[in-house]
Amino acid sequence: MTVETTLLRHLPPDLDPCTLPAHVAVIMDGNGRWAKRRGQPRLFGHRRGADNLVNLLHCCKDWGIHTLTVYAFSTENWQRPKVEVELLMWLIEQMIRQKLPELKAMGMRFDCIGDLTVLPHSLRSEIQRAIEQTADNTSVEFVMAINYGGQQEILQACQAIAARVEDGALTASQVDRALFEEQLYTHRKPNPDLLIRTSGEKRLSNFLLWQLAYTELYFTDAFWPDFDAGEFHQALLAYQSRNRRFGQVKTA
Ligand code: IPE
Ligand code: IPE
Ligand code: MG
Repeated sequence: MTVETTLLRHLPPDLDPCTLPAHVAVIMDGNGRWAKRRGQPRLFGHRRGADNLVNLLHCCKDWGIHTLTVYAFSTENWQRPKVEVELLMWLIEQMIRQKLPELKAMGMRFDCIGDLTVLPHSLRSEIQRAIEQTADNTSVEFVMAINYGGQQEILQACQAIAARVEDGALTASQVDRALFEEQLYTHRKPNPDLLIRTSGEKRLSNFLLWQLAYTELYFTDAFWPDFDAGEFHQALLAYQSRNRRFGQVKTA
């Protein structure tokens, strides 16, 4: 059976395989409220949220979506109570460690964006191990944004470029979009075609500010732990009904 027929076997019939987004980004929000509704501590919601991520990875693989980038921890999330921050770090580490064999079996490549230098040492080693062991895989690129902030990313790119200008290695007029993008965490990754945010909030919360310039935005009231294959299917249907114009004149 060819790759194409395998994909078509899994893909819901109302989705057009030719116009699926190549790159989906997700702001996984609402774990705390999901838990609160059930009379449980926020940490319970984070655990269920971490488990849910694997379902989405399976959809990407089965339906032929090449890149999935998820917002796991923002630069602002350090301001949460210490116990919650520690649990989130532990959950991310545990998820990467436990799911690595499954990611490998699914042929996925793992990567991270964000400032990893300040993360707990054990998490950094786990990330490094997962990146190395999946480097040659090609089915889906799974990118976790950890200690990621769009403004910080843009600022550090400006600083790196300014330092090169200061050294005389570059002139200001040589700074163009391609050179700027080389300095971003997402260098060599495509920009997202579709951004999904769960939990009813309609904001970007400092996620991929540069990269989302022409991304289609989709908001759902579902809390992240409830965002299942059916919800993802609805998001993809909404995406396929959009008319992307990129500033040009195009008919639907
Ligand atoms: C998203 O859920 C997970 C992270 C931000 C790490 P929240 O923890 O933000 O849940 P709510 O938004 O408070 O419900
Ligand atoms: C965004 O959610 C960050 C992640 C999902 C990791 P937040 O819950 O932190 O965002 P705000 O505070 O509602 O904007
Ligand atoms: Mg939130």
